[in-house]
Amino acid sequence: MEPEGADPTAPIEPYRIKVVESIRLPSRAERERALERAGYNLFNLLSEEVYIDLLTDSGTAAMSDRQWAGLMVGDEAYAGSRNFVHFEATVRELTGFPHIIPAHQGRAAEHLLFSQLAKPGDIVPNNMHFDTTQAHVLRAGARPLNLAIPEAYACDDPHPFKGNVDVPKLQQLLESPQGSHVPLVMVTLTNNTGGGQPVSLANLKAVSETCRRFQKPLYLDICRWAENAYLIRERETGQSSRSVREIAREVCDLADGATMSAKKDGLVNMGGFIATRNAGLAARFKEELIVFEGFPTYGGLARRDLEAISIGLQEALMEDYLEHRLGQVRFLAGRLTAHGVPIMQPPGGHGVYLDVTRFLSHLRPPQLPGQALAVELYREGGVRSVEVGAIMFEDVTAPSSNPLELLRLAIPRRVYTESHLRFVADTVCRVWDRRASVRGMRIVEAPEHLRHFTARFAPEPP
Ligand code: F0G
Repeated sequence: MEPEGADPTAPIEPYRIKVVESIRLPSRAERERALERAGYNLFNLLSEEVYIDLLTDSGTAAMSDRQWAGLMVGDEAYAGSRNFVHFEATVRELTGFPHIIPAHQGRAAEHLLFSQLAKPGDIVPNNMHFDTTQAHVLRAGARPLNLAIPEAYACDDPHPFKGNVDVPKLQQLLESPQGSHVPLVMVTLTNNTGGGQPVSLANLKAVSETCRRFQKPLYLDICRWAENAYLIRERETGQSSRSVREIAREVCDLADGATMSAKKDGLVNMGGFIATRNAGLAARFKEELIVFEGFPTYGGLARRDLEAISIGLQEALMEDYLEHRLGQVRFLAGRLTAHGVPIMQPPGGHGVYLDVTRFLSHLRPPQLPGQALAVELYREGGVRSVEVGAIMFEDVTAPSSNPLELLRLAIPRRVYTESHLRFVADTVCRVWDRRASVRGMRIVEAPEHLRHFTARFAPEPP
């Protein structure tokens, strides 16, 4: 019998397993020693010290046999590789953008975008900035501004598209004197910082129309666009009979360009690109690319990697793949909800986000509850997660600060099975049952930027 509230139909893998990789649960004493050595920062753990690794869904996918075969037809020519030709044609066909520039990962594409479009004094609106996006905006001397709808900040609100942009607020900004300092508008699909929440087609249309009216370019972060398109089909009125591929294409048709980390919905371990309709800008991106990444027909990647991306992008838009993928997220969310564990509702595209504020309601924000919970899940079951809250999004500029305190259990693509997810759910539920015993943390040392990667922490005394 399934617990009440859980998804009764556990998702069935639309693939069989050809290669396996051993994993092992380290003993409790080993886990405790690992935590101490790592300065209670799970980024400092060795992979071998982790049992189920839900740190990220980025670059952690299992490639298909077809992708591995693609690596074998790598044409490693510096210029004009046939893999680039295939890659460019595939991305053009799927997105409709004419100018496609490969980059080694998403943040390299962000570097190209913001180094060319943003300058000191500018304001860059987004539904919610991801950490690297925010870092690139700041690096260009501009100010990131999060403009997600208010529902995005209420974990319990059942709004189906919590990634949506607050269009009246965007319009207000563009009409105001500050509007002239907005070089572009960005929308992130799905909204990773806010729980992997999708953006609706209707909202994207309204944003696109607003941008056109104010003559602002609209760029999308499409690293999870296949998951976003699937959720549009599932949740948006009038979309249920369309193919995910068609929806994904229409999404791109509404924008002037996009950045992509192919490490997510490209189903590869490394890669990305920037795409644009603006030929002049594409030429500037390429100049910058040559200095930082490499020639425009490889962009910091081995040419065989481009082949794997071309195949991965197509596979990520397949309906049976997405049904299972989103089914896994729902399955984990269902088991946690059935036990009373507070999560960001409804579950989004690439993981389950625990609502830390309610999970550890006895801890105050300075006690870093998200980090405390991440440490506790590792201690309990060797499960690695990541805090998406006060540590990741320190108060760099008040308007972009993120009041959400979440713990993300990101599900790598095609990697874990139902029994792994059951184990994760059981681990979280055991910590939930003894939550009052979880102690706060404090920062011992931290760098100025992107501190979650390298900071060291210590538990508060009992
Ligand atoms: N945009 C979003 C929405 C992301 O989630 C990420 C990466 C990037 C851009 C940057 O891409 O890592 O290829 O340079 N997100 C990872 C994560 C790191 O764990 O969510 P990248």
